Amino acid sequence: MAKVAVLGYGTVGSGVVDVLDINAALVEKSAGEAVELKYILDLRDFPGDKHEAQVVHDIDIILNDPEVDVICETMGGLEPAFTFEKRALEAGKSVCTSNKELVAAHGPELVELAKKNNVSYLFEASVGGGIPVLRSINDSLKHEKIDSITGILNGTTNYILTKMDKEGVAFELVLKKAQEKGYAERNPEADVEGYDACRKIAILASLMSGKHVHYEDIYTEGISKISILDFEYARALNMSIKLLAMCKKNENGFFTMVAPFLVPPENPLASVNGVFNAIDVHGNMLGDVMFYGKGAGKNATASAVVADVIDILKHKGHHIEVNMKAEKAELSPKDNAVRRFFVRVPADLQDQAKEVFGNEVEVVKRNSIPEEFAFITDLISEKDFEERLWKMNSVKGYLRLY
Ligand code: HSE
Repeated sequence: MAKVAVLGYGTVGSGVVDVLDINAALVEKSAGEAVELKYILDLRDFPGDKHEAQVVHDIDIILNDPEVDVICETMGGLEPAFTFEKRALEAGKSVCTSNKELVAAHGPELVELAKKNNVSYLFEASVGGGIPVLRSINDSLKHEKIDSITGILNGTTNYILTKMDKEGVAFELVLKKAQEKGYAERNPEADVEGYDACRKIAILASLMSGKHVHYEDIYTEGISKISILDFEYARALNMSIKLLAMCKKNENGFFTMVAPFLVPPENPLASVNGVFNAIDVHGNMLGDVMFYGKGAGKNATASAVVADVIDILKHKGHHIEVNMKAEKAELSPKDNAVRRFFVRVPADLQDQAKEVFGNEVEVVKRNSIPEEFAFITDLISEKDFEERLWKMNSVKGYLRLY
């Protein structure tokens, strides 16, 4: 019988407890032994809760109990989660977590600490909620040279973009409705400005490179500047607008970014709608493989945490290798990336736009928007694009083409 402790009895933590309760027989079969919830750490009491008796307020009770094999950290945030995880690993307990903020900031050093103590540190639920993408990269695709990962990694922004597109409602209004329904946080900045997707791609990029990709080094743009007119043009182009997080290895080095892109219909990411996430992984022999599913939500995320518990128990006494070293990964600047850009300028700047971007730009005409001149550039580098953009007297908006 294995004993686990859950740190944080919030949405994900209580979901983990539910999965352990509801799927107890399947968990036992999969882990090779029964899994018993011994402790729940929380500041609050939960009178009347089925697991009221397991609630403790002192982490040392858990860390000093030799019976506890695995700790599920579902508190979120950097502290005290970081300290608790470190102390757990040092105490010889394996840890699994859904805490993307902490994994992005300190994951590689925690993996090294786990290795030193011959225990495991897993974090499947930190990226893509219930989608088993990290385990696939770390296990099934270990023999592949992965040269690109591109994903829709944030459900909130994908929901907002889908609503703006399908219902023609402006960003602020959709966000307000999403907040009312509980789909978006009261403070939506982390989602809409791309910071959440940035942390998730930092984790994927670290796994891909085997080093620590610092999220602060990742160029990040969110969706707050996307207008309803952008969708009108996108529809004319038969494309979708998606917040993409990507990392790529090519002759220019290793590059990662988060930004809204116009995605052509032949790319499956174009039809990922609502709160769903999708991640395309490209391996040198495999080609493309796509992971799709619920990137958030209590049960889906909790299911991924329990998958880590099972993996840990199946490898009891062994450290599960995770391809992440604490050494800092060097990223190449976004300047060299070459792509096409969609640009909107005031109609009276048409001549200037052609002067700056060339006469051969592809004009995107919308009779319903006579006040604008919109076009798609030729293939140019990010640096070149930025320099040309500065030469324009005014720009209403731009999007990258994927
Ligand atoms: N705010 C996140 C999202 C939750 O919308 O995807 C899951 O990490």
